Amino acid sequence: AITQRVFSGVQPTGNLHLGNYLGAIVNFVKLQETHNCIYCVVDLHAITVPVTVWGGPDELRRNTREVTAAFIAAGIDPQKHIIFNQSQVAEHAELAWVFNCVARLGWLNRMTQFKEKAGKDRENASIGLYDYPVLMASDILVYRATHVPVGEDQKQHLELTRDIAQKFNNDFSASIAAQGLGDAYFPLPEPVITGPATRVMSLRDGTKKMSKSDPSDYSRINLTDDADAIAQKIRKAKTDPEPLPTEEKGLEPRPEADNLVGIFAALAGKPKAQVLSEFGGGQFSAFKSNLVDLAVEKLSPIAGEMKRLSADHGYVDSVLASGSDRARVIAAETMTAVKDIMGM
Ligand code: ADP
Ligand code: NA
Repeated sequence: AITQRVFSGVQPTGNLHLGNYLGAIVNFVKLQETHNCIYCVVDLHAITVPVTVWGGPDELRRNTREVTAAFIAAGIDPQKHIIFNQSQVAEHAELAWVFNCVARLGWLNRMTQFKEKAGKDRENASIGLYDYPVLMASDILVYRATHVPVGEDQKQHLELTRDIAQKFNNDFSASIAAQGLGDAYFPLPEPVITGPATRVMSLRDGTKKMSKSDPSDYSRINLTDDADAIAQKIRKAKTDPEPLPTEEKGLEPRPEADNLVGIFAALAGKPKAQVLSEFGGGQFSAFKSNLVDLAVEKLSPIAGEMKRLSADHGYVDSVLASGSDRARVIAAETMTAVKDIMGM
């Protein structure tokens, strides 16, 4: 029987931002109430970019602890659920090799994130960057997870995960049945992409995704920003000269306005329509000062707790060690079954 299980990951690449929080981490926290959850600091994904970008060993250690601290500070309970870092459970890489032999070259060639991240100098991208979505499929399926909370940008990778699971189930259906494992071994995991901020945009340009790698500091609110930084960035955020619309339809041609209203709605835990019923017809200056207060109220406690935890290496490292011990047990069971199914 397949149990309902949640898996998701965040890369330890520094500059954790409001998009990561509202698009993913907020849903990680919610799903704890209804599911068994496994949340991973995906260090094997972080090293797919050049070492000059991911920063080397000291930086990786620091960023791994920072993401762990963010998970805990945001409200994930490492006692009830699992928080760990990917490289400590070797089965992720082992299953990824099997999936490399299941996935088709044509499927990988369609991945738009690789094209964006590799840029013009594609010949110089790492093989790991190209293969990233296969490792991601392995991250999810090594726990036979059924639900994956992610931002909108990960939708295509989730589709690839489902394609890999389905092809494995089909290719080995007779053996899966012969092992007494039913008619499918891997679930086809569902993306959980919900809330008013599944794609948070840059505060400087409403057509670009808020991102860790944007060179402009004013483009994103980092989870470690203090109240002054949050206030400055929101006040400087790009808007248009019109007042806020009274209905959601009025946001459609206005990406910057739509983004700020979406951020407000997500932070307040309200639908966008309700935010517009409060602020529609008013000027952005008034709306922005309310947004500053709300953002500071919601984010400052997380920043404070992250700061405290980031200094407590002993505690953070013990969370990761215990989490990886518990994750490894589940992953090893899957790998044993996969080897039995394939005759290895
Ligand atoms: P990034 O995309 O910032 O490099 P990750 O790849 O580690 O960060 O993403 C961690 C999670 O945050 C993923 O679920 C991703 O979909 C989500 N995410 C990243 N950027 C945004 C954004 N601008 N809006 C909403 N969700 C986002
Ligand atoms: Na991403």
